[in-house]
Amino acid sequence: MADAEIGVIGGSGFYSFLDDVTEITVDTPYGSPSDSLFLGEVAGRQVAFLPRHGRGHHLPPHRINYRANLWALRSVGVRQVLGPCAVGGLRPEYGPGTLLVPDQVVDRTKTRAQTYFDGVPLADGSIPRVFHLPFADPYCPAARTAALTAARGRGWDAVDGGTLVVIEGPRFSSRAESHWHAAQGWSVVGMTGHPEAALARELGLCYASLTLVTDLDAGAETGEGVSHHDVLEVFGKNVGRLREVLFDAVGALPATAGRTCGCAEVHDGWDLGIELP
Ligand code: ADE
Repeated sequence: MADAEIGVIGGSGFYSFLDDVTEITVDTPYGSPSDSLFLGEVAGRQVAFLPRHGRGHHLPPHRINYRANLWALRSVGVRQVLGPCAVGGLRPEYGPGTLLVPDQVVDRTKTRAQTYFDGVPLADGSIPRVFHLPFADPYCPAARTAALTAARGRGWDAVDGGTLVVIEGPRFSSRAESHWHAAQGWSVVGMTGHPEAALARELGLCYASLTLVTDLDAGAETGEGVSHHDVLEVFGKNVGRLREVLFDAVGALPATAGRTCGCAEVHDGWDLGIELP
């Protein structure tokens, strides 16, 4: 039997999720994930929690081994993933404390391995084929609905949709960059939402991002800009209710075997050249 069916990848300020856990270490052909996986039960579902930056927050966004993280989760049975993360708001109405469940993503990262299908042999010598991922709608509609329903059920008026732009970091945006992001019509800015969603899709996993606004980004406010301290402080204030929302969202996700969203069928008709875990 699988160890878990649902994965939660916790971001800045969110290093633990479950109370009663079994800790396991998992290795992958792509190296080590950010930390151990913490297995437990929520709402009758088996959940694996992974702190994205490591439990002591030692990994900056560009050093996270996103491929290992998603692979590790899938290897213990995970098929649906919720990815909470801290973001900056790009519009004045998306101030600190806003929860936004994006329906689009823009990749402005620079150095991250963002595919399993890059032609490099795996440890066992197998070579993944070239695979061009369908990504027009990056997020799983069912997982997004579960997140939104859970948030609203807890009285949090979450924003349904919007564009998450992901920058390389670890620095925050300059004011000019931030103005530009806002002028494109993008909603929030973060450092970890990509390539997580793309890799999840490559592995046939359902994935939704829950972005918690911790600050107004430099272009949307007139002060001195964002500080890491402010981000952690606001996240800390909201982490309790975010945890409740995630618990409820886990319970609201469809049964793994009964998924009708199509995320699991992304490879239909393709010879991948590798066995997925
Ligand atoms: N994470 C939290 N706030 C952020 C911001 N303003 N820019 C990028 N990532 C963030």
